[in-house]
Amino acid sequence: MKKTKILFVCLGNICRSPLAEAIFKHKIKEKGLENRLVVHSCGTANYHVGDTPDPRTIKNALKNGVAIDHLGRQLSNKDLESYDFIIAMDKSNHANILKLENAKDHSHKIKLMRSFDLNQAGDEVPDPYYGDESGFQHVFDVLSHSVDSFIHFLEKEHLKP
Ligand code: 4NP
Repeated sequence: MKKTKILFVCLGNICRSPLAEAIFKHKIKEKGLENRLVVHSCGTANYHVGDTPDPRTIKNALKNGVAIDHLGRQLSNKDLESYDFIIAMDKSNHANILKLENAKDHSHKIKLMRSFDLNQAGDEVPDPYYGDESGFQHVFDVLSHSVDSFIHFLEKEHLKP
């Protein structure tokens, strides 16, 4: 069976999107769905290509029982062809993905992370980079909830046996 491919996207690919990837992988493993899905993350910017995630993200994720294993990479035109869902953390990154040359052919795949929860649709995953520990915990809580909503959507609409 063909696997559904998901790409989480933020700006630097060291805080929000690698955490979204790690939380998503953690949750699908618990549900036994890991063989149906391929999950990666990247950034719209190139500042942190090849870097490990921000140490504050790694530490906070571990505190919440989630391990992160990732090296930064930048979004490319080819990703729009390769993935089934391209999930932006905020509106600025969503807009930048839509500016890629071939985006109009794939715009149906490009979604905001919080759009899968009707109570939060239109909200963003805030950038914790310039904040303190409480911001990292807030991002963890937001992502955990948003990932639950996204997995629920996938199970209902996309992963029918
Ligand atoms: P992220 O956070 O987009 O969630 O990975 C950021 C990481 C780095 C920078 C900005 C945001 N930066 O300016 O280097």
